[in-house]
Amino acid sequence: MANSAEKQVTSRPAPAPYRPSLFTRLQQFVFASSKDHAFLDRPYFGVVMALTPKRWKRPLANYLLALSPHYFLPNWEKKYPDELTYADKVAANAEEGLGYRRKLVNQLIIPHAAADASMLDFGCGPGVIAIMAAPHVGKVTAVDVSRGVIAISKALDHPENVEFVANRRNDLAFIASESLDLVFSFVVLQHLKPEQVESFLKEFYRVLKPGGKAVLQIKLREQGQPRHDPGVGGWLHRRTMLRMVFYTRRQMLQMLKRSGFREISIRNLREYEGFEKELDNGQIIITGKPGPVPATAEQAIA
Ligand SMILES: C[S@@+](CC[C@H](N)C(=O)[O-])C[C@H]1O[C@@H](n2cnc3c(N)ncnc32)[C@H](O)[C@@H]1O
Repeated sequence: MANSAEKQVTSRPAPAPYRPSLFTRLQQFVFASSKDHAFLDRPYFGVVMALTPKRWKRPLANYLLALSPHYFLPNWEKKYPDELTYADKVAANAEEGLGYRRKLVNQLIIPHAAADASMLDFGCGPGVIAIMAAPHVGKVTAVDVSRGVIAISKALDHPENVEFVANRRNDLAFIASESLDLVFSFVVLQHLKPEQVESFLKEFYRVLKPGGKAVLQIKLREQGQPRHDPGVGGWLHRRTMLRMVFYTRRQMLQMLKRSGFREISIRNLREYEGFEKELDNGQIIITGKPGPVPATAEQAIA
């Protein structure tokens, strides 16, 4: 006789075939793109933002960002009271995102920053982190695969030392080797395909100066968790290009080591101040490129 676990598996109904409605197809066409994982990718978002009067740019940007689970979590509206208008909910959620990112910048960027440092914010999205980090470093290169999100960020006010770049390649060929002091990335690596993660980790190592640091968020695989998030791999992926791939701590360490990184610390984000109550927050990797070796013994003594 089948045990109860087997019964559960066999009695589970087959998933319904995905049949997007006409409206979903239209949304998909308007907001996503053929490029994997690039939501808001259509080039016309830049034109729309440029034509929008200044005072409407920020609310419009928030409206567009609210359409993607990259920027506003799925079902984000549900946590706000029904009495609030949609516009108020969008504004409140955007504000909450700012507070969260301020805590990140204070604890994960500023301790590794210097006034003349060059930093990369990889997968910058609307550039909130890049903009908050800007007063603490010399230059921030904020890179994202989505042309639309980069166009939106460029159209909004931002400090002069933040450069937004749309990069659709699986490398960072436009950044010179050993030119950056800090590579930062938050909630990006878990959304990439494994071969992209390998490629970008190698690129992070290549672009870092000797002595440079990498601070990277990842969501590692917990015991019993599948390799891919099934909740995300289904309709959400088809509609918004969102994917989640989880690696074990060991797999992640192996990938980092294959990329050249050696001294690697991995801590739960929950261990940082103000994140104790977060449920779904993943891990923070802190690593770097070994510092320059003195050329001569005299230099070493000096
Ligand atoms: C969850 S959002 C995080 C945005 C930002 N780091 C933040 O915390 O506000 C993930 C971002 O990664 C970007 N992304 C996905 N694949 C990418 C790639 N291959 N290269 C650069 N950015 C990518 C997405 O377009 C999206 O903006």
